[in-house]
Amino acid sequence: MTGKPVEKPGDAAPIGVVGAGWVGLVTAACFAELGHSVVARDVVQEKVDALNRGEVTIHEPGLAELLSSNADRLEFTTDMDRLLDHARLLFVCVDTPPTHSGDADLSRVRAVVDELAGSPDHVLVMKSTVPAGTGETIMAELPGSGYVSCPEFLKEGSAVEDFMHPDRVVIGVAPGREADGDAVAELYAPLGGEMVRTDVTSAEMVKLASNAYLATRISFINEIANVCEEVGADVSEVARGMGLDDRIGPQFLRPGIGFGGSCFPKDVSALKLLAGNSGYHFQLLNAVIEVNELQKRRVVGKLVEHIGPLAGKRIALLGLAFKPDTDDMREASSLVLSARLAAEGAEVVAFDPVAMDAARELLPGVEMARSALEALEGADGAVLVTEWPEFRELDWTGAAGVMNRPLLIDGRNYLDPDELAAAGFTWDGVGRAEVRPD
Ligand code: UDX
Repeated sequence: MTGKPVEKPGDAAPIGVVGAGWVGLVTAACFAELGHSVVARDVVQEKVDALNRGEVTIHEPGLAELLSSNADRLEFTTDMDRLLDHARLLFVCVDTPPTHSGDADLSRVRAVVDELAGSPDHVLVMKSTVPAGTGETIMAELPGSGYVSCPEFLKEGSAVEDFMHPDRVVIGVAPGREADGDAVAELYAPLGGEMVRTDVTSAEMVKLASNAYLATRISFINEIANVCEEVGADVSEVARGMGLDDRIGPQFLRPGIGFGGSCFPKDVSALKLLAGNSGYHFQLLNAVIEVNELQKRRVVGKLVEHIGPLAGKRIALLGLAFKPDTDDMREASSLVLSARLAAEGAEVVAFDPVAMDAARELLPGVEMARSALEALEGADGAVLVTEWPEFRELDWTGAAGVMNRPLLIDGRNYLDPDELAAAGFTWDGVGRAEVRPD
């Protein structure tokens, strides 16, 4: 074990970050931008070497610029002792992916706890999403060390912006350890978000409940969209009318072909299991998950309605990433959709502006096109899966000309139906009336 970290009076606080993945890198870069001296530790030597050479492998707007302009305040290492020497506050940003049972895999968190064992001078600041109750367990194992739960709420594609302008900063500490919470609060104070000071387990629950609630809103609006299709209403108008109620608000009411990504599916399942493991049956979340699964598959039925059985038909997927501005394919709706299409005997061709490399390995049976137009060539139907802005700029009249049948199932209600109809397309979205060519 190393000695007490040295803090020079007058300096911005030295900060340690454990795990240089997506959350860790954003956290390290943003704290460096705020003037702090940051040492980030990762167990993967090649990643550390690349970062020390100034190479960034993650696609996140603004991150590369921050890492480069603050290079003199950032150091990457594999050496935990170096981190312990540098800083008292250690921000834990390691992955907690789902296990086969859907519980959170805490092995990386456990490894950090083991490395810290015995140090009374350090404070673990948990950014990683962990099941409620984890902090209490860790604190019992690390008597003397500090522990603060400070969950991250960053969105992929706007993580730097979200870090710099938080809606709120949640800080959970054990009774008697308020000074540790104050130290973390001081770091976030310049960013202006509302501070929520609470106990550790409640802080953990804020994160899980927030993500589960947002996922619930999406499944809810998806079901409303499905009902709109039955009764002839337009879900965009319905969502607009709902969102103007202050108690509801306009965000996260976009229907589509289901939510994906590294957080929502994992956190909804983790909260459901956490409740189940504690003896409570969280019925609502079962429905949220089921609706999301069915929503990814509804597109197949829509294609069949328009063009009949899919065996031998060529279907183009526009977009593969779970949302725009990222190459992240984790739990992307395109994975389920392309597998369902293949099971129906369709030939699937796809294009994504950024996620092609990430997708190629995951979708070996899918033909990868070099452009959206190439994907549409000879297709019997197309599905817009991810709302990439470049799809709005596409020459849709030209696209109609190269397709076998100009049909666009708009899985995100992203394109203008009238424009598509004028270009010669049949447009069919989610929860809205279909529009046929003029
Ligand atoms: C989410 C949370 O927003 C963030 O606070 C948390 O820290 C991590 O999880 P992220 O996974 O980056 O962030 O994506 P987000 O922009 O929230 O979208 C998640 C999924 O929901 C995407 O697949 C998106 O397409 C879908 N979505 C979102 C909808 O289908 N409709 C909506 O109205 C909003």
